[in-house]
Amino acid sequence: MFLIEHWFVSLPHAKVMIEPWRRAVNPRLEMEQYLMSTQALINTANALVADDKGLLAMDESNPTCNKRFAQLGIPQTADARRAYRELIITTPGLGACISGAILYDETIRQATREEIPFVQAVIDAGIIPGVKVDAGAKELAGHPGEKVTEGLDGLRGRLKEYAQMGLRFAKWRAVIVIGDGLPSRACIEANAHALARYAALCQEVGLVPIVEPEVLMDGEHTLARCFAVTEQVLHTVFDQINTQGVILEGMLLKPNMVLPGLSCSQQETVEAVADATVRCFLRAVPAAVPGVVFLSGGQSAELASARLSAMNAGFKSHGPWALSFSYGRALQQPAMDIWSGQAANVKAAQQALLHRAQCNRAARRGEYSATMEVKD
Ligand code: G3H
Repeated sequence: MFLIEHWFVSLPHAKVMIEPWRRAVNPRLEMEQYLMSTQALINTANALVADDKGLLAMDESNPTCNKRFAQLGIPQTADARRAYRELIITTPGLGACISGAILYDETIRQATREEIPFVQAVIDAGIIPGVKVDAGAKELAGHPGEKVTEGLDGLRGRLKEYAQMGLRFAKWRAVIVIGDGLPSRACIEANAHALARYAALCQEVGLVPIVEPEVLMDGEHTLARCFAVTEQVLHTVFDQINTQGVILEGMLLKPNMVLPGLSCSQQETVEAVADATVRCFLRAVPAAVPGVVFLSGGQSAELASARLSAMNAGFKSHGPWALSFSYGRALQQPAMDIWSGQAANVKAAQQALLHRAQCNRAARRGEYSATMEVKD
């Protein structure tokens, strides 16, 4: 009886049974320790989607960050990246809308001008720190035009270090291209397998995995094609997630919205996108996952807010998971444009960032409207 009681961990409104076979997944852990670490994972995953807040992705790799800096004439140096990340993290009031920040490896080893390590500065802002842990998408052998994300080698050791540094969650992004005859089954399965193995390794050290299979917006494909590909990708990812013994209650999914390609002649209304996205996810995302935190993927900041808001307005009351955001460009781009590397612009840039965070918090309630964009 005593033992049976301990097969459960508590959620705010329910108890989650941990199946006996999961013990075999991680035989090195004693039962009590295993249940405590499972409970901690579930608590973190739920905290990341609580209070209508969302995630801020500020985990651009150095090459990606440099490319965006170059477009604005900002020097592409470690110190410019440090100054920009300080601008973001020290934005007054950001913690009221942002639950977690995804950082990049370089950033977690840097500090503010006042020498507060960034991980601590994020915690001080009332935000949960996380980190991107994949090593980027590389050409998939034998499949021209497709990529597989690398970074599993040595990942266990890196994750241990991240957990010791105070990080509480991690992110891994896979990219799937829609095109003539694409995506291939090889691409979907290779990426799904890597995502699931990464997620299991994260949970082993107490980090919540943010599982990001991104079906790219580039192309002429229709909304219906994006729906079919996204559904297939999600089914494959969750099949692998189950095979690897990942605890669904202790992870978050970071997917694309279901959208027509950027070059498709038939673009769709905000409502049609919201409807297709939620219908697709109801088919493929298990109800035990606490949250779906969308990437923005190149949508405008305003559309990313409007589409998320429409999903929450239409489905929040009867969807099983929180519908939230984990935007990079759709939160940061207006602020980066204003900053442009000039110290004199920091305050205005921070206001722009806070504004986007507030718009997306409103979107989580289904209450965003274009009137929020009207400048005084
Ligand atoms: O991996 C992608 C980022 O975390 C999200 O960036 O919202 O600009 O697509 P994005």
